[in-house]
Amino acid sequence: MKLVDVYCFCVNEKKSKGGIMELIICKNYEEVSQKASEILIEQLIRKPNSILGLATGSTPVGLYNKLIEAYKRGQVSFKNVITFNLDEYLELDRRHPESYFSFMHKNLFNHIDINEDNIHLPSNNIKTLEGDIKTYNDLLKLHQVDVQVLGIGSNGHIGFNEPGSPFENETFATKLTEQTRNDNLRFFNHIDEVPRSAVTMGIGTIMRSKKIVLIATGLNKADAIFKMLKGPITTALPASALRNHPNLAVIVDELAAKNL
Ligand code: PGA
Repeated sequence: MKLVDVYCFCVNEKKSKGGIMELIICKNYEEVSQKASEILIEQLIRKPNSILGLATGSTPVGLYNKLIEAYKRGQVSFKNVITFNLDEYLELDRRHPESYFSFMHKNLFNHIDINEDNIHLPSNNIKTLEGDIKTYNDLLKLHQVDVQVLGIGSNGHIGFNEPGSPFENETFATKLTEQTRNDNLRFFNHIDEVPRSAVTMGIGTIMRSKKIVLIATGLNKADAIFKMLKGPITTALPASALRNHPNLAVIVDELAAKNL
């Protein structure tokens, strides 16, 4: 077990199935980003051809900035890294500024030496959707993700696995809840512009990754974090499924940890 840096407070919980869950409580967003980046940087140094599962949303932006800094100072290279993103909106063109394809390029890929051929996001092409989803699942079966980065929705979703999504699901097309659409309204001008559906890796796919790092900050995540860690393991709170994962790190700030 790696030493916990002074600014973060770590609780290790041995799980009945033999795995370990690390709960790391940091002071603020900056420190959450720092701690998460340390895990990824260590992974990239140890295995330069790592397979990373990546997330979008505002939470991982600080982490991606730190990975870009690590690349710029020559600490890591992404030349042999393969990435799979969790999800993508349907109804938006990939070139739309709020598509997750655009988000990932703007916040990470455009600033590092990753090979474009090694970048994978779920397709949102309605005409070929069914076949594309199968291809994505097949690829994910061939490439076990080393570290999967996750955020969490205020309703406990991971990726776009909204409450009620079966734990066994692989990548699938899904409807977004009104809560999620309202949470994401801040990226759009009007609620009518917020997509109503998306493609997401399922919880079954996510659970196959070797390690999972979930990051959450702010008071509006406190309820979801409490239910994820202390409530029943139930599809009503999708992130609770992660408690069955053998190698999980949950990194939160003091606000998101407030109810623990
Ligand atoms: P956020 O989204 O990082 O923008 O809060 C997290 C999520 O919905 O998974």
